[in-house]
Amino acid sequence: MSSTTTSAKDRVLIFDTTLRDGEQCPGATMTFEEKLEVADVLDAMGVDIIEAGFPIASDGDFEAVSAIAKRIKRATVAGLARAISADIARAGEAVRHAAKPRIHTFVSTSPIHLEHQMRKTEDEVLEIITRTVAQARNLVEDVEWSAMDATRTPIDYLCRTVDAAIKAGATTINLPDTVGYATPEEYRAMFRAVRERVANADKAIFSVHCHNDLGLAVANSLAGIEGGARQVECTINGIGERAGNAALEEVVMALRVRGDFFPYDTGIDSTLLMRASKAVSTACSFPVQYNKAIVGRNAFAHESGIHQDGMLKNQSTYEIMTPESVGVSKTSLVMGKHSGRAAFRSKLKEMGYDLGDNQLEDAFTRFKALADRKKHVYDEDIEALVDENIASAHD
Ligand code: KIV
Ligand code: ZN
Repeated sequence: MSSTTTSAKDRVLIFDTTLRDGEQCPGATMTFEEKLEVADVLDAMGVDIIEAGFPIASDGDFEAVSAIAKRIKRATVAGLARAISADIARAGEAVRHAAKPRIHTFVSTSPIHLEHQMRKTEDEVLEIITRTVAQARNLVEDVEWSAMDATRTPIDYLCRTVDAAIKAGATTINLPDTVGYATPEEYRAMFRAVRERVANADKAIFSVHCHNDLGLAVANSLAGIEGGARQVECTINGIGERAGNAALEEVVMALRVRGDFFPYDTGIDSTLLMRASKAVSTACSFPVQYNKAIVGRNAFAHESGIHQDGMLKNQSTYEIMTPESVGVSKTSLVMGKHSGRAAFRSKLKEMGYDLGDNQLEDAFTRFKALADRKKHVYDEDIEALVDENIASAHD
Protein backbone atom coordinates (compact mmCIF):
# COMPACT_ATOMS: atom_id res chain seq x y z
CA MET A 1 0.00 0.00 0.00
CA SER A 2 1.13 3.58 -0.63
CA SER A 3 1.79 5.98 2.22
CA THR A 4 -1.50 7.71 1.38
CA THR A 5 -3.53 4.67 2.24
CA THR A 6 -1.70 3.59 5.38
CA SER A 7 -1.76 6.91 7.25
CA ALA A 8 -5.52 7.24 7.42
CA LYS A 9 -6.47 6.11 10.93
CA ASP A 10 -8.74 8.84 12.14
CA ARG A 11 -7.90 11.01 9.27
CA VAL A 12 -10.28 11.53 6.39
CA LEU A 13 -8.41 11.72 3.11
CA ILE A 14 -9.45 14.42 0.69
CA PHE A 15 -9.56 13.24 -2.91
CA ASP A 16 -10.13 16.18 -5.18
CA THR A 17 -11.70 15.47 -8.56
CA THR A 18 -12.14 19.06 -9.79
CA LEU A 19 -9.85 18.33 -12.73
CA ARG A 20 -11.76 15.18 -13.72
CA ASP A 21 -15.41 14.99 -12.56
CA GLY A 22 -15.45 18.77 -12.11
CA GLU A 23 -14.20 19.36 -15.60
CA GLN A 24 -16.95 17.05 -16.93
CA CYS A 25 -19.40 19.76 -15.89
CA PRO A 26 -20.88 21.35 -19.04
CA GLY A 27 -18.98 24.57 -19.76
CA ALA A 28 -16.21 23.98 -17.23
CA THR A 29 -13.39 22.98 -19.59
CA MET A 30 -9.93 24.19 -18.54
CA THR A 31 -6.82 24.75 -20.59
CA PHE A 32 -3.58 22.88 -19.90
CA GLU A 33 -2.08 25.88 -18.05
CA GLU A 34 -5.24 26.43 -16.01
CA LYS A 35 -5.18 22.78 -14.93
CA LEU A 36 -1.59 23.13 -13.72
CA GLU A 37 -2.51 26.26 -11.75
CA VAL A 38 -5.46 24.51 -10.11
CA ALA A 39 -3.30 21.46 -9.31
CA ASP A 40 -0.75 23.73 -7.61
CA VAL A 41 -3.40 25.34 -5.41
CA LEU A 42 -4.84 21.93 -4.49
CA ASP A 43 -1.40 20.67 -3.56
CA ALA A 44 -0.58 23.78 -1.52
CA MET A 45 -3.89 23.40 0.31
CA GLY A 46 -3.05 19.86 1.43
CA VAL A 47 -5.34 17.75 -0.77
CA ASP A 48 -4.27 14.09 -0.35
CA ILE A 49 -5.15 12.83 -3.82
CA ILE A 50 -5.54 14.93 -6.96
CA GLU A 51 -7.51 13.18 -9.69
CA ALA A 52 -5.87 14.97 -12.57
CA GLY A 53 -8.02 13.69 -15.45
CA PHE A 54 -9.11 10.82 -17.65
CA PRO A 55 -6.02 10.06 -19.77
CA ILE A 56 -7.75 7.97 -22.46
CA ALA A 57 -10.38 10.68 -23.04
CA SER A 58 -8.13 12.87 -25.22
CA ASP A 59 -4.47 13.64 -25.89
CA GLY A 60 -4.98 16.92 -24.03
CA ASP A 61 -6.20 15.06 -20.95
CA PHE A 62 -3.27 12.66 -21.17
CA GLU A 63 -0.77 15.56 -21.42
CA ALA A 64 -2.34 17.36 -18.46
CA VAL A 65 -2.32 14.26 -16.25
CA SER A 66 1.32 13.50 -17.19
CA ALA A 67 2.42 17.08 -16.52
CA ILE A 68 0.62 17.19 -13.16
CA ALA A 69 2.10 13.79 -12.24
CA LYS A 70 5.63 15.12 -12.90
CA ARG A 71 5.03 18.43 -11.16
CA ILE A 72 3.27 17.48 -7.92
CA LYS A 73 5.62 16.13 -5.27
CA ARG A 74 3.41 15.91 -2.16
CA ALA A 75 -0.07 14.68 -3.15
CA THR A 76 -0.92 11.39 -4.82
CA VAL A 77 -1.83 11.93 -8.48
CA ALA A 78 -4.60 9.74 -9.91
CA GLY A 79 -5.69 9.05 -13.48
CA LEU A 80 -9.13 7.62 -14.24
CA ALA A 81 -9.65 4.53 -16.40
CA ARG A 82 -12.69 2.50 -17.43
CA ALA A 83 -12.44 -1.24 -16.86
CA ILE A 84 -10.83 -1.60 -20.26
CA SER A 85 -7.27 -2.75 -20.79
CA ALA A 86 -6.31 0.18 -23.08
CA ASP A 87 -7.69 2.73 -20.60
CA ILE A 88 -5.73 1.24 -17.73
CA ALA A 89 -2.52 1.13 -19.74
CA ARG A 90 -2.98 4.79 -20.76
CA ALA A 91 -3.73 5.88 -17.18
CA GLY A 92 -0.67 3.96 -15.96
CA GLU A 93 1.49 5.71 -18.53
CA ALA A 94 0.12 9.14 -17.60
CA VAL A 95 0.78 8.82 -13.85
CA ARG A 96 4.05 6.90 -14.31
CA HIS A 97 6.30 9.78 -13.22
CA ALA A 98 4.26 10.80 -10.17
CA ALA A 99 5.95 10.66 -6.77
CA LYS A 100 2.78 8.83 -5.64
CA PRO A 101 0.85 7.44 -8.62
CA ARG A 102 -2.66 6.00 -8.46
CA ILE A 103 -4.86 4.35 -11.07
CA HIS A 104 -8.56 4.78 -10.45
CA THR A 105 -10.60 2.26 -12.39
CA PHE A 106 -14.36 1.81 -12.35
CA VAL A 107 -17.17 -0.32 -13.68
CA SER A 108 -20.93 -0.15 -13.27
CA THR A 109 -22.53 -2.59 -10.87
CA SER A 110 -26.25 -1.71 -10.80
CA PRO A 111 -28.86 -3.79 -12.66
CA ILE A 112 -29.95 -0.68 -14.61
CA HIS A 113 -26.43 -0.08 -15.91
CA LEU A 114 -25.68 -3.77 -16.48
CA GLU A 115 -28.82 -4.26 -18.53
CA HIS A 116 -29.06 -1.01 -20.50
CA GLN A 117 -25.51 0.30 -20.73
CA MET A 118 -23.08 -2.56 -20.43
CA ARG A 119 -25.25 -5.50 -21.57
CA LYS A 120 -23.27 -7.82 -19.30
CA THR A 121 -24.24 -10.37 -16.68
CA GLU A 122 -23.25 -10.06 -13.03
CA ASP A 123 -20.69 -12.85 -13.43
CA GLU A 124 -19.17 -11.20 -16.48
CA VAL A 125 -18.73 -7.98 -14.52
CA LEU A 126 -17.08 -9.85 -11.64
CA GLU A 127 -14.59 -11.33 -14.10
CA ILE A 128 -13.91 -7.86 -15.56
CA ILE A 129 -13.24 -6.46 -12.08
CA THR A 130 -10.76 -9.21 -11.22
CA ARG A 131 -8.91 -8.86 -14.51
CA THR A 132 -8.75 -5.05 -14.72
CA VAL A 133 -7.90 -4.38 -11.07
CA ALA A 134 -5.09 -6.94 -11.34
CA GLN A 135 -3.84 -5.23 -14.51
CA ALA A 136 -3.80 -1.85 -12.75
CA ARG A 137 -2.10 -3.36 -9.72
CA ASN A 138 0.68 -4.65 -11.96
CA LEU A 139 1.37 -1.05 -12.98
CA VAL A 140 1.07 0.77 -9.64
CA GLU A 141 0.76 -0.14 -5.98
CA ASP A 142 -2.07 2.27 -5.29
CA VAL A 143 -5.24 1.18 -7.09
CA GLU A 144 -8.69 2.58 -6.50
CA TRP A 145 -11.72 0.70 -7.73
CA SER A 146 -15.19 2.27 -8.02
CA ALA A 147 -18.55 0.53 -8.23
CA MET A 148 -20.35 2.95 -10.48
CA ASP A 149 -24.00 3.44 -9.45
CA ALA A 150 -23.27 1.60 -6.18
CA THR A 151 -26.29 3.13 -4.45
CA ARG A 152 -28.67 1.43 -6.92
CA THR A 153 -26.90 -1.93 -6.66
CA PRO A 154 -28.39 -4.74 -4.52
CA ILE A 155 -26.22 -5.11 -1.42
CA ASP A 156 -25.43 -8.82 -1.93
CA TYR A 157 -24.02 -8.23 -5.37
CA LEU A 158 -22.25 -5.03 -4.30
CA CYS A 159 -20.46 -7.05 -1.59
CA ARG A 160 -19.37 -9.64 -4.16
CA THR A 161 -17.92 -6.93 -6.41
CA VAL A 162 -16.05 -5.27 -3.54
CA ASP A 163 -14.69 -8.62 -2.43
CA ALA A 164 -13.45 -9.34 -5.97
CA ALA A 165 -11.81 -5.89 -6.26
CA ILE A 166 -9.98 -6.23 -2.93
CA LYS A 167 -8.83 -9.76 -3.75
CA ALA A 168 -7.47 -8.49 -7.07
CA GLY A 169 -5.45 -5.82 -5.26
CA ALA A 170 -7.56 -2.66 -4.92
CA THR A 171 -6.32 -0.52 -2.03
CA THR A 172 -9.21 1.96 -2.09
CA ILE A 173 -12.87 1.04 -2.66
CA ASN A 174 -15.13 3.84 -3.77
CA LEU A 175 -18.92 3.41 -3.56
CA PRO A 176 -20.33 6.35 -5.50
CA ASP A 177 -23.80 7.78 -5.44
CA THR A 178 -23.40 8.33 -9.17
CA VAL A 179 -26.86 9.74 -9.80
CA GLY A 180 -27.31 11.59 -6.51
CA TYR A 181 -30.18 9.33 -5.48
CA ALA A 182 -29.28 8.16 -1.97
CA THR A 183 -30.42 9.60 1.33
CA PRO A 184 -27.87 10.00 4.17
CA GLU A 185 -29.37 7.09 6.12
CA GLU A 186 -29.17 4.75 3.15
CA TYR A 187 -25.66 5.81 2.26
CA ARG A 188 -24.38 5.35 5.85
CA ALA A 189 -26.06 1.93 6.05
CA MET A 190 -24.57 0.81 2.73
CA PHE A 191 -21.01 1.46 3.97
CA ARG A 192 -21.71 -0.27 7.28
CA ALA A 193 -23.17 -3.32 5.54
CA VAL A 194 -20.37 -3.68 2.99
CA ARG A 195 -17.64 -3.22 5.59
CA GLU A 196 -19.29 -5.77 7.88
CA ARG A 197 -20.03 -8.34 5.20
CA VAL A 198 -16.90 -8.35 3.06
CA ALA A 199 -14.34 -10.56 4.80
CA ASN A 200 -11.22 -8.57 3.87
CA ALA A 201 -12.81 -5.10 3.93
CA ASP A 202 -10.18 -3.81 6.37
CA LYS A 203 -7.52 -4.22 3.68
CA ALA A 204 -8.89 -1.19 1.83
CA ILE A 205 -9.78 2.41 2.53
CA PHE A 206 -13.46 3.06 1.72
CA SER A 207 -14.37 6.19 -0.17
CA VAL A 208 -17.47 8.33 -0.69
CA HIS A 209 -18.25 10.03 -4.00
CA CYS A 210 -21.57 11.88 -4.05
CA HIS A 211 -23.41 13.78 -6.73
CA ASN A 212 -25.76 16.60 -5.88
CA ASP A 213 -28.88 15.90 -7.91
CA LEU A 214 -31.08 16.17 -4.80
CA GLY A 215 -28.82 18.66 -3.02
CA LEU A 216 -27.64 15.91 -0.65
CA ALA A 217 -24.04 15.41 -1.79
CA VAL A 218 -22.35 16.89 1.29
CA ALA A 219 -24.85 15.36 3.75
CA ASN A 220 -24.39 11.97 2.09
CA SER A 221 -20.59 12.30 2.16
CA LEU A 222 -20.67 12.98 5.90
CA ALA A 223 -23.03 10.05 6.43
CA GLY A 224 -20.66 7.80 4.47
CA ILE A 225 -17.83 8.83 6.80
CA GLU A 226 -20.02 7.83 9.73
CA GLY A 227 -20.50 4.50 7.96
CA GLY A 228 -16.73 3.97 7.95
CA ALA A 229 -15.46 5.70 4.79
CA ARG A 230 -12.14 7.48 5.25
CA GLN A 231 -11.77 9.15 1.86
CA VAL A 232 -14.05 11.84 0.45
CA GLU A 233 -14.17 12.58 -3.27
CA CYS A 234 -15.18 16.15 -3.88
CA THR A 235 -14.61 19.23 -6.02
CA ILE A 236 -13.88 22.88 -5.44
CA ASN A 237 -17.12 24.92 -5.59
CA GLY A 238 -18.96 21.59 -5.99
CA ILE A 239 -18.60 21.64 -9.79
CA GLY A 240 -19.24 18.38 -11.60
CA GLU A 241 -21.59 16.37 -13.81
CA ARG A 242 -25.17 17.70 -13.84
CA ALA A 243 -25.86 19.31 -10.41
CA GLY A 244 -22.24 18.73 -9.40
CA ASN A 245 -20.27 16.82 -6.78
CA ALA A 246 -19.93 17.32 -3.03
CA ALA A 247 -18.15 20.65 -2.47
CA LEU A 248 -14.70 20.21 -0.94
CA GLU A 249 -14.90 23.45 1.06
CA GLU A 250 -18.23 22.41 2.60
CA VAL A 251 -17.08 18.91 3.56
CA VAL A 252 -13.84 20.23 5.08
CA MET A 253 -15.52 23.00 7.08
CA ALA A 254 -18.38 20.75 8.23
CA LEU A 255 -15.80 18.31 9.61
CA ARG A 256 -13.88 21.14 11.24
CA VAL A 257 -16.69 23.29 12.61
CA ARG A 258 -18.63 20.25 13.84
CA GLY A 259 -15.59 18.38 15.11
CA ASP A 260 -17.65 17.64 18.22
CA PHE A 261 -19.87 15.49 16.03
CA PHE A 262 -17.32 14.25 13.48
CA PRO A 263 -14.07 13.32 15.28
CA TYR A 264 -11.98 13.25 12.11
CA ASP A 265 -9.40 15.52 10.68
CA THR A 266 -8.34 16.42 7.16
CA GLY A 267 -4.95 17.74 6.15
CA ILE A 268 -6.48 20.79 4.49
CA ASP A 269 -5.22 24.31 5.17
CA SER A 270 -8.66 25.90 5.19
CA THR A 271 -7.26 29.42 4.87
CA LEU A 272 -6.61 28.58 1.21
CA LEU A 273 -10.21 27.60 0.45
CA MET A 274 -11.19 31.01 -0.93
CA ARG A 275 -8.09 31.12 -3.10
CA ALA A 276 -8.88 27.68 -4.49
CA SER A 277 -12.49 28.67 -5.13
CA LYS A 278 -11.41 31.77 -7.07
CA ALA A 279 -8.76 29.85 -9.02
CA VAL A 280 -11.31 27.24 -10.15
CA SER A 281 -14.07 29.73 -10.86
CA THR A 282 -11.69 31.83 -12.99
CA ALA A 283 -10.13 28.82 -14.73
CA CYS A 284 -13.44 27.40 -15.88
CA SER A 285 -15.29 30.75 -16.15
CA PHE A 286 -17.89 29.38 -13.82
CA PRO A 287 -19.40 31.87 -11.36
CA VAL A 288 -19.86 30.93 -7.72
CA GLN A 289 -23.43 31.50 -6.59
CA TYR A 290 -23.66 34.46 -4.18
CA ASN A 291 -25.15 32.42 -1.36
CA LYS A 292 -22.81 29.42 -1.78
CA ALA A 293 -21.74 28.08 1.64
CA ILE A 294 -18.17 28.96 2.70
CA VAL A 295 -16.98 30.69 -0.50
CA GLY A 296 -20.01 32.60 -1.84
CA ARG A 297 -19.73 36.37 -1.64
CA ASN A 298 -22.62 36.49 0.87
CA ALA A 299 -21.24 33.71 3.09
CA PHE A 300 -19.89 36.28 5.57
CA ALA A 301 -22.16 39.23 4.72
CA HIS A 302 -24.93 40.46 6.99
CA GLU A 303 -27.65 42.94 6.13
CA SER A 304 -30.44 42.64 8.68
CA GLY A 305 -30.37 45.17 11.52
CA ILE A 306 -30.69 42.52 14.23
CA HIS A 307 -27.83 40.46 12.79
CA GLN A 308 -25.59 43.49 12.23
CA ASP A 309 -26.21 44.66 15.78
CA GLY A 310 -25.29 41.19 17.11
CA MET A 311 -22.18 41.02 14.93
CA LEU A 312 -20.97 44.39 16.20
CA LYS A 313 -21.27 43.08 19.75
CA ASN A 314 -19.76 39.64 19.16
CA GLN A 315 -19.04 37.78 15.92
CA SER A 316 -20.16 34.44 17.30
CA THR A 317 -23.75 35.70 17.45
CA TYR A 318 -24.26 35.06 13.73
CA GLU A 319 -21.09 33.39 12.45
CA ILE A 320 -20.14 29.77 13.14
CA MET A 321 -16.64 30.15 11.69
CA THR A 322 -14.45 33.16 11.14
CA PRO A 323 -14.04 34.52 7.61
CA GLU A 324 -10.26 34.40 8.15
CA SER A 325 -10.44 30.62 8.73
CA VAL A 326 -11.48 30.12 5.09
CA GLY A 327 -9.33 32.87 3.62
CA VAL A 328 -11.89 35.67 3.51
CA SER A 329 -10.39 38.91 4.82
CA LYS A 330 -13.34 40.05 6.91
CA THR A 331 -17.04 39.95 7.64
CA SER A 332 -19.02 42.53 5.68
CA LEU A 333 -21.96 44.41 7.04
CA VAL A 334 -23.89 45.26 3.90
CA MET A 335 -25.76 48.54 4.12
CA GLY A 336 -29.33 48.14 2.90
CA LYS A 337 -32.92 48.73 3.92
CA HIS A 338 -32.69 46.04 6.61
CA SER A 339 -29.70 47.64 8.32
CA GLY A 340 -30.14 49.24 11.72
CA ARG A 341 -28.72 52.30 13.48
CA ALA A 342 -25.85 50.40 15.11
CA ALA A 343 -24.47 49.20 11.79
CA PHE A 344 -25.02 52.61 10.20
CA ARG A 345 -23.12 54.31 13.01
CA SER A 346 -20.29 51.78 12.74
CA LYS A 347 -20.17 52.22 8.96
CA LEU A 348 -19.90 56.01 9.33
CA LYS A 349 -17.12 55.59 11.86
CA GLU A 350 -15.26 53.29 9.49
CA MET A 351 -15.67 55.95 6.77
CA GLY A 352 -14.21 58.62 9.06
CA TYR A 353 -17.41 60.46 10.08
CA ASP A 354 -18.15 61.40 13.64
CA LEU A 355 -21.71 62.77 13.77
CA GLY A 356 -23.62 64.07 16.76
CA ASP A 357 -26.84 62.34 17.79
CA ASN A 358 -29.18 64.65 15.87
CA GLN A 359 -27.10 64.58 12.72
CA LEU A 360 -26.81 60.83 12.93
CA GLU A 361 -30.58 60.47 13.29
CA ASP A 362 -31.17 62.72 10.33
CA ALA A 363 -28.61 60.90 8.18
CA PHE A 364 -30.09 57.55 9.19
CA THR A 365 -33.60 58.64 8.13
CA ARG A 366 -32.27 59.74 4.75
CA PHE A 367 -30.28 56.50 4.41
CA LYS A 368 -33.42 54.40 5.04
CA ALA A 369 -35.35 56.38 2.44
CA LEU A 370 -32.53 55.89 -0.07
CA ALA A 371 -32.24 52.15 0.71
CA ASP A 372 -35.95 51.76 0.00
CA ARG A 373 -35.46 53.24 -3.46
CA LYS A 374 -32.10 51.74 -4.35
CA LYS A 375 -31.12 48.08 -4.54
CA HIS A 376 -27.45 48.64 -3.71
CA VAL A 377 -26.33 51.37 -1.33
CA TYR A 378 -22.64 52.00 -1.90
CA ASP A 379 -20.16 53.86 0.28
CA GLU A 380 -20.36 56.78 -2.19
CA ASP A 381 -24.13 57.02 -1.64
CA ILE A 382 -23.64 57.17 2.11
CA GLU A 383 -20.88 59.74 1.68
CA ALA A 384 -23.18 61.91 -0.45
CA LEU A 385 -26.06 61.82 1.96
CA VAL A 386 -23.88 62.56 4.99
CA ASP A 387 -22.16 65.47 3.20
CA GLU A 388 -25.59 66.81 2.24
CA ASN A 389 -26.66 66.41 5.83
CA ILE A 390 -23.59 68.30 7.16
CA ALA A 391 -24.07 71.05 4.54
CA SER A 392 -27.71 71.61 5.47
CA ALA A 393 -26.74 71.80 9.16
CA HIS A 394 -24.45 74.74 8.29
CA ASP A 395 -27.13 76.66 6.30
O1 KIV B 1 -19.97 9.36 -10.29
C1 KIV B 1 -19.29 8.35 -10.52
O2 KIV B 1 -19.71 7.21 -10.35
C2 KIV B 1 -17.94 8.57 -11.03
C3 KIV B 1 -17.05 7.37 -11.13
C4 KIV B 1 -16.19 7.44 -12.34
C5 KIV B 1 -16.25 7.25 -9.88
O3 KIV B 1 -17.54 9.70 -11.26
ZN1 ZN C 1 -18.84 11.21 -10.34
